[in-house]
Amino acid sequence: MATGENRRRGGGAAAKKSAAKSSTSPRQQYGRPAEVVRSRDDDDRHGSRRIRPEASEPVSSGQAKRLWKPSTLLAPVPVVLVSCGGRAEQPENIITVAWAGTVCSDPPMLSISIRPDRFSHAIITATREFVVNIPTQDLAKATDLCGMKSGRDTDKFALAGLSRVAGEVVSAPLLAECPLNLECKVRKTVKLGSHDLFVAEIVAVHVSPELLDRRGKLCLEQARLLAYAHGEYYGLGKRVGFFGFSVKRPGTPRRR
Ligand SMILES: Cc1cc2nc3c(=O)[nH]c(=O)nc-3n(C[C@H](O)[C@H](O)[C@H](O)COP(=O)(O)O)c2cc1C
Repeated sequence: MATGENRRRGGGAAAKKSAAKSSTSPRQQYGRPAEVVRSRDDDDRHGSRRIRPEASEPVSSGQAKRLWKPSTLLAPVPVVLVSCGGRAEQPENIITVAWAGTVCSDPPMLSISIRPDRFSHAIITATREFVVNIPTQDLAKATDLCGMKSGRDTDKFALAGLSRVAGEVVSAPLLAECPLNLECKVRKTVKLGSHDLFVAEIVAVHVSPELLDRRGKLCLEQARLLAYAHGEYYGLGKRVGFFGFSVKRPGTPRRR
């Protein structure tokens, strides 16, 4: 898809033309073949791969790293179901978002990045609130579906089999099937280019009791969370450490 994003990033026809000039490409000065540079085209698919089969063969160790054109290759990232609407005459809707992240601890804040042409963008702009619902691996298909269909012409709650629950603070519905729901109020909107960044304060957090032990400690390892990397969904794997484990001395309490 020849989007403005592609053009800015050197994708599309212009990039192909420049990559084809293999003898003059600046990347070749570093010995990186132009064909590798143009083998991927970051676009609207949030990192999904369009790599030729032969190019996906693993390279043997000892070879120089390939230099690729700048792209959104931060991985893994969360993939979340953002529910919105329910007031200011806005319909309720769900959008799948991978460009999401925690941005502040106090006040607790997160951001989501949404293209202006998404149906949800207008809803969130009007209501200035949304809910980040964190899906489990069982919800991988529902998560993908909500990113494939638009609320303009589809009831994604019905399509994906997701049920609404009323929130505490915001009017946007929570998704009952997701074990964690973060109610958010937009504090700032930043136009970035292809996407607008909604920076929002987390005003209420809902945690499924099945994830709490007898002392009320959150046991997220039992949540079977989803992650997203380069266009593919993954189940979060086994725990390999905890915050501060690298410096913890035996017998001392765990750092929080
Ligand atoms: C895994 C995945 C991640 C996505 N991440 C984003 C994102 O971060 N921002 C965005 O604007 N669209 C993202 N999308 C695309 C939207 O979810 C998709 O265009 C959706 O149909 C928009 O729904 P709406 O028109 O009802 O708002 C993603 C889609 C998928 C499948």
